[in-house]
Amino acid sequence: MISLTSISNLHSNELMKRGIAMNITIIGAGYVGLVTGACFAELGMNVLCMDVDKQKVKKLEKGIIPIYEPGLDELIQKNTPDRLIFTTNLNEAVQFSDVIFIAVNTPTLENNISDLSHVFKAAEEIALCMKGYKVIVNKSTVPVFTGQRVKAIIKGILQEQGKDIPFDVVSNPEFLQEGSAVNNFLQPDRIVIGFESIHALDVMRNIYSSQILRGVPLVATNIETSEMIKYASNAFLATKISFINEISNLCEGCGADVSVVAYAMGLDDRIGAKFLKSGPGYGGSCLPKDTKALLGIGKNIGYSPRLIKSVIEVNTAQKKLACKKIKNAVKRLKKRTITLLGLSFKPETDDIRESPAIDIIKYLVNSKAMVKVFDPKASENMKKLYSEFQIEYCSDPYSACDKSDCIVLVTEWKDFMELDFRRLKQIVRTPVFIDLRNVYEPDHIKKSGFQYEGIGRR
Ligand code: UDX
Repeated sequence: MISLTSISNLHSNELMKRGIAMNITIIGAGYVGLVTGACFAELGMNVLCMDVDKQKVKKLEKGIIPIYEPGLDELIQKNTPDRLIFTTNLNEAVQFSDVIFIAVNTPTLENNISDLSHVFKAAEEIALCMKGYKVIVNKSTVPVFTGQRVKAIIKGILQEQGKDIPFDVVSNPEFLQEGSAVNNFLQPDRIVIGFESIHALDVMRNIYSSQILRGVPLVATNIETSEMIKYASNAFLATKISFINEISNLCEGCGADVSVVAYAMGLDDRIGAKFLKSGPGYGGSCLPKDTKALLGIGKNIGYSPRLIKSVIEVNTAQKKLACKKIKNAVKRLKKRTITLLGLSFKPETDDIRESPAIDIIKYLVNSKAMVKVFDPKASENMKKLYSEFQIEYCSDPYSACDKSDCIVLVTEWKDFMELDFRRLKQIVRTPVFIDLRNVYEPDHIKKSGFQYEGIGRR
């Protein structure tokens, strides 16, 4: 069990030199904060994770994890309470360590501006509680110049209080993919640190020493460059997806097969095979938010990122295209039963944020269709966040397909990889299958007696 006072007054580097595990504080027990805290604990550090949500902290203390992320609950169970504890008390969190990660959410406001209020509130409260040197680490995805604003906030409050306490602000963006976040953290492609003092960089090197010793590249740069690396990386991933979706729409008109085009493109190592799968458009809490945030950053500096604007437009259109495909296949939607397989924005997560399934359900409900859905993990979130949807939640894919006039594969969960089309042919009312992820070979489905519609191929 970690004693909050016995070792917390030693500086992190001194702890490391004495072979004592470092203390780390994480503010924000959301998706990023929980994965970061659990992985740091797994790497041998003492972690105190703070959140304002009392219910969430109570559940975490009982080992109940608020999100589905493969491997996360095992890590939390294994490390709690010896190396990982939770609190709602910010002062306790600030005193616990001289390294404080801010991992609070930064949603998108109107006109593409990121809501940084949670980040700034955390910075204010840290400054009010500080009694000694701190490294404050921005882990949340924040627009360029946020590090400087956090620095100014802390400096201002310390001055107001007449506290002459040194501190450093560091940018350390995360590159976690939902569904593989634990592995992404423990085996990162790179570690990015934006710093302004060698001591702060030294502290961060200690924290990531096990990954660095394993040869993970460390990109140590200034704060603004670090903040931009995160946005540029996500915007490029979104660009690849909108690019292949644009190509898939061209393929559909020319009788070409986009999955073969993408395969052949990916053999060029300058292009790379990943993120070239056409589909109903990207979702999630990051790509949509970060591409829009770049538009917001551009507006602030008087530059219009036209390409990124087009990436967003193509994505919005792609979700509408998915709806159009269903309409074209079924003709009259009123009173027809449409089945959606998959609600989450991608497999292996219960996250439905910006999921194409939401746009499709809204369209179908407005068209007075009867909607039946199944998702291995995300149904509860859809029910909670969209309780107004009058749709039928089913307990397995086949009951969702019973008496269906059109089956739509929206999310490529493993559960949908090997559907029994002979069985489906017996239970559907109209044999139509719309494969929005090009999971199946068209001929195989057509031979089972279904009309097949893919994305970017016939
Ligand atoms: C993304 C980035 O990948 C990650 O590095 C960053 O830290 C957070 O944002 P995530 O949002 O979890 O991660 O999901 P990701 O795997 O990137 O998929 C995003 C969306 O793109 C999903 O809706 C997915 O279905 C879609 N996608 C992905 C495609 O449509 N085609 C592809 O080839 C890949």
